[in-house]
Amino acid sequence: MLQLLRGKRLPFLIAVLAIALSGCSASPLVPKGQQAREQLDLMILSLAIMTLVVVVVFSIAIYVLIKFRRRKGDDEIPKQVEGNHKLEIIWTVIPLILLLILIVPTVGRTFNHDQNLSEDPNAVKVQVVAHQFWWEFNYPELGIYTSQDLVIPVGRDISFELTSADVIHSFWIPALGGKKDTNPGLTSYFHLTPLETGVYKGKCAELCGDSHALMDFTVVVVSEEEFNAWVENMREPAQAVAAEDLEQGRVIYEANCLYCHAVQPDVRSAVAPHLNGFADRQRIAGILPHNEENLKDWIRDPAEIKPGTLMPKMPLSEEELDQLTKFLLELK
Ligand code: CUA
Repeated sequence: MLQLLRGKRLPFLIAVLAIALSGCSASPLVPKGQQAREQLDLMILSLAIMTLVVVVVFSIAIYVLIKFRRRKGDDEIPKQVEGNHKLEIIWTVIPLILLLILIVPTVGRTFNHDQNLSEDPNAVKVQVVAHQFWWEFNYPELGIYTSQDLVIPVGRDISFELTSADVIHSFWIPALGGKKDTNPGLTSYFHLTPLETGVYKGKCAELCGDSHALMDFTVVVVSEEEFNAWVENMREPAQAVAAEDLEQGRVIYEANCLYCHAVQPDVRSAVAPHLNGFADRQRIAGILPHNEENLKDWIRDPAEIKPGTLMPKMPLSEEELDQLTKFLLELK
């Protein structure tokens, strides 16, 4: 490691890290929401003030060290002084002014970001319930129950009502703004305003068990029209049942999965992720690319992929697994 940090490699590593962070869809350094932008502004403001202080203090220190250094033959003790009223006032007042410049926007935004918009008629309300190790997203005003993919419209205030079904988790969408804990037995509120459409990463930011690091979710920010179309679609019963070759898969689903995974649009799924609209999801189990192979791997042995998950191994033959995944991947 030390070798890596020697010579020209350090600036190179820093450059690579900066590019990686800035290109990431999950970075607070590339804000895609109102609150994230305001938070980044505050970070830049405090960095600018700190840089100014460092530059000024070090310049004065270096100047004084050189100018008043001990010279050859200079053996006298310098004139002893005790305090300087003017200087003391200057170095007390300047930091006070700098702190005020930092405090005013920081306090203002802290209160602003902490507002509770749960009664605001213009805000889209989403109830978030965190589980070991998945996310439940319910839209009480729209009558929609879903999981893992959070679909929200661009430019609107989204009011989140946060709680947990088991331990403390933390709800975090780095590209849209800061995070907030979800606590069992307690409801807290939080809001975000996405400003650009796109797909962003959501994380659990509180150590919550074996698969804490795998407790990801996806945030899909869409236009108002696309959001309305999604709402309409989610209110319809999931349709995969029409096709004949999926009938066998549906039977397997109902016998093995339905007990925990609800699929009816108007039923909450409080034990395991809701599967309405599963075909259009971005990820399998919140982390794997959404394809048939990964879905099969997940169902074959969930704990291999997410240690500590409550999802059991299903006693299915390869043929049954084949029929089940076909059915699930058509569940729209
Ligand atoms: Cu949930 Cu970490």
